Amino acid sequence: MTKKKPLVVVTRKLPEAIETRMMELFDARLNIDDAIMSKQELIDAVKQADVLVPTVTDKIDAAVLAHAGPNLRLIANFGTGIDHVDLQTARSRGITVTNTPDVLTEDTADMTMALILSVSRRLAEGERVIRKGDWAGWGPTLMLGHRIWGKRLGIVGMGRIGRALARRAKGFGLSVHYHNRRRVHPDTEEELDATYWESLDQMLAHVDIVSVNCPHTPATYHLLSARRLKLMQPHAILVNTARGEIVDEPALTRMLSDGEIAGAGLDVFEHEPAVSPKLLELQNAVLLPHMGSATIEGRVDMGEKVLINIKTFVDGHTPPDRVIEGLL
Ligand code: 8YV
Repeated sequence: MTKKKPLVVVTRKLPEAIETRMMELFDARLNIDDAIMSKQELIDAVKQADVLVPTVTDKIDAAVLAHAGPNLRLIANFGTGIDHVDLQTARSRGITVTNTPDVLTEDTADMTMALILSVSRRLAEGERVIRKGDWAGWGPTLMLGHRIWGKRLGIVGMGRIGRALARRAKGFGLSVHYHNRRRVHPDTEEELDATYWESLDQMLAHVDIVSVNCPHTPATYHLLSARRLKLMQPHAILVNTARGEIVDEPALTRMLSDGEIAGAGLDVFEHEPAVSPKLLELQNAVLLPHMGSATIEGRVDMGEKVLINIKTFVDGHTPPDRVIEGLL
C-alpha cells in the first residue's frame, strides 16, 4: 500500500524548480497568484495542512495556531528569520519549526555592504540627479560622500551574516568592531580581526558605521532605541538588513531629519510594507524593499532547504534546520 503524501500548504509563489519538486514529493497546495494570504486563509491552511510553508509576510501567531488541526506537525519556513512565527505556541502544540539558514548569508552580507557604500558614497542620490536631468556636469565639490576605507564598522550581532559582513569589511579597509550576547571564539575574532565590545552603548559611541545583523526576538525589539541612537556620532551612519523592529524607526527618522545621524541604509522596516512618508522624504536614507536575500540562486537554495527539511521530517528524522528558541 502506498503511503498518502502529506498535504503541504505553501503560502507564497516559490521558484518554479522548487514548486515542481514540491509537487513531485508531496501533495502540495501552491499559491500561483502569489497574493498574500489573509488571516482567515492562514487559519484555513493550518486547519488542513500537515506541513505549512510560510514566509516573512505571514504572521503565524497564537491566534492562527489556535486553529491548527491535529495533522499540522511542521512549519517549514522559507527564510531564516522566524520572528513572524510564535515559537512558544508552536512548541506547546507539538509543532516543529524549521528555517533556511546559511544559504542566504553571503547574499545578505553583500547587500549590507552595498548599503554601506550606497549611503556613504550617495549612490541613490546620484542616480536620482541623473534621472531627473539635474546633472550639469562634473564639479570638484559635487556629490561628495565619505571615504569608508580606514573607518570603524560596528556590527550588532556576530552570527553568520555578521561574520560574512566582517570578512567583506576587512577587504574594504574598515576596522571591525562587534557586539554580541556571547563573545565569539578567539580564533574567529583573530580571523576577522574583530574587536569585541561587551557594552553596545560604548561601541555605538565609538564607530562610524553601525550595521544591524542580529535576529529579532523579544530581547532585541528596539535594541537600537532612541537613547542608544543618540549615542551614535553625528557623522555616523546606520545600516539595517535584519529586521525593522530592532530599530526605533520614528526616532531614527527624526534624528536623520535633524542631522543627529548622517545617514541610513534600510532594507527592512518596522511595519512592512509600510514606509513612513517622513522617511521617504529624506535624501540621506537609502531604502530597499527587503531585498537582502533576493538572488535567484539564494531563493532556489532556500527552497531546497525547505524541501529537505520537510522530507527528512516526514521520513521520521529530525530536520536539519530545526529552530531551537534558546539558540536564536
Ligand atoms: C527572506 C529574510 O527573504 O530569511 C530572512 O530572514 O529576511 C529574507 O531574506 C524572507 O524572510 C523570506 O521569508
